[in-house]
Amino acid sequence: MIVAGNLLVPSGLHECSLRPGTIRVVDGLIQQIQWDEISEHADFGGEGFLITPGFIDAHVHLPQFDLIGAHGMPLLRWLMEATFPAEAKWADVDYAKEMTGRVAKQLIGHGTTGIAAYATVHHQSAIAAIEILRSFGMHGLVGQVLMDREAPSEICRPATQLIDEAAVLQERFPTGNDSGARPLSAAVTPRFAIACTEELLIGAGRIAEQYQCFVQSHLAETQAECDLVGQLFDGRSYVSVYQDAGLLNERSIYGHGIHLSASDLTEMSESRAVIAHCPTANSFLRSGIMNRHERCEAGVRVAIGSDIGAGYHRSMVRVAAALIEAAAMIGDEFPTAAQAWHCITAGNANVLGLSEVGSIQVGHSADLVVARPNIAWLAGGADPLSMAMWAWDDRWIEEVVIRGRPSLTLS
Ligand code: GUN
Ligand code: FE
Repeated sequence: MIVAGNLLVPSGLHECSLRPGTIRVVDGLIQQIQWDEISEHADFGGEGFLITPGFIDAHVHLPQFDLIGAHGMPLLRWLMEATFPAEAKWADVDYAKEMTGRVAKQLIGHGTTGIAAYATVHHQSAIAAIEILRSFGMHGLVGQVLMDREAPSEICRPATQLIDEAAVLQERFPTGNDSGARPLSAAVTPRFAIACTEELLIGAGRIAEQYQCFVQSHLAETQAECDLVGQLFDGRSYVSVYQDAGLLNERSIYGHGIHLSASDLTEMSESRAVIAHCPTANSFLRSGIMNRHERCEAGVRVAIGSDIGAGYHRSMVRVAAALIEAAAMIGDEFPTAAQAWHCITAGNANVLGLSEVGSIQVGHSADLVVARPNIAWLAGGADPLSMAMWAWDDRWIEEVVIRGRPSLTLS
């Protein structure tokens, strides 16, 4: 298969730029790139097209796609009144399967080909979700949510059961070695410290250590949440609760991380743990604006996620623009479109340990979004990437290739 156009390629550590090129895809991998030449005989793309790596969403909840827009509640009330009832429906495995199929099509339709996603507490439904997402060729991580308190009893399980189930998922969907063909794997996913007893957190940390797998959870999203963590864990800091359970290392991804002290940031930085910045969810739930620049300056690794359904944009290009807007609101250093676009591709791939995706380079999995901007983005006199980002329209997407397979027909 041949794909051609203006290719989005990383330049430097945190930037990307455009360069014309023609990509040859063989057996799902990028086999060859002819630079500075846009083939007229490409299967997909051509002159005027933007070819970007598939987008990667570093924090997203599969069962929450049907509750986007449940407005007006702060986090802890939103969880109880909107989120937990929606997640309880995944007790029905057939429902979970049907919904996962719908969600996969939505993700792909918006150009997302890699995820770090949460399922629900239901073991069989989490297994089904992973298998379905694998069948679509999706890259990344999915976790069965672990919670044993502070939620309706129907979606809590005993800690011992959850720890056993997390081990079963690791046996069945291991993290695997770097390769262009590495399948989606299971991540250990304690929901957040409030919904987990210390026994459960420690058990989760043990499984993560044993299997050297990824961990994902939530951290310091609202002040009320931080206060409750203090009450539940003898006044310990939120970060140290995870640290003490063995859940803070370079394979752990924490959603939000808004309300953190300087010493919290030092611990995050030294442990190499990742904050998944969720700018749309943070404004939707009025949780606060995360200071991304301050975290980067402190050496904390920062990814970016849609956090659907607290977040409301399925398109990672829209989430990237929201990252820039959030920075503008607090007078933070203003990231460029090239930096924001890097975050949703190579940057997220890097922090999720997905060395086979996120950039257009030989040997990488062929995950490509083929878009035809219907604006004069290349002749506008302004930065073409900035124009493509702010004017972005999902109707520009003509094809989404995952592992070399044109997939848009699926949605
Ligand atoms: N904290 C714990 N669970 C959740 C969730 O599902 N969404 C968000 N935004 N924050 C959480
Ligand atoms: Fe979340």
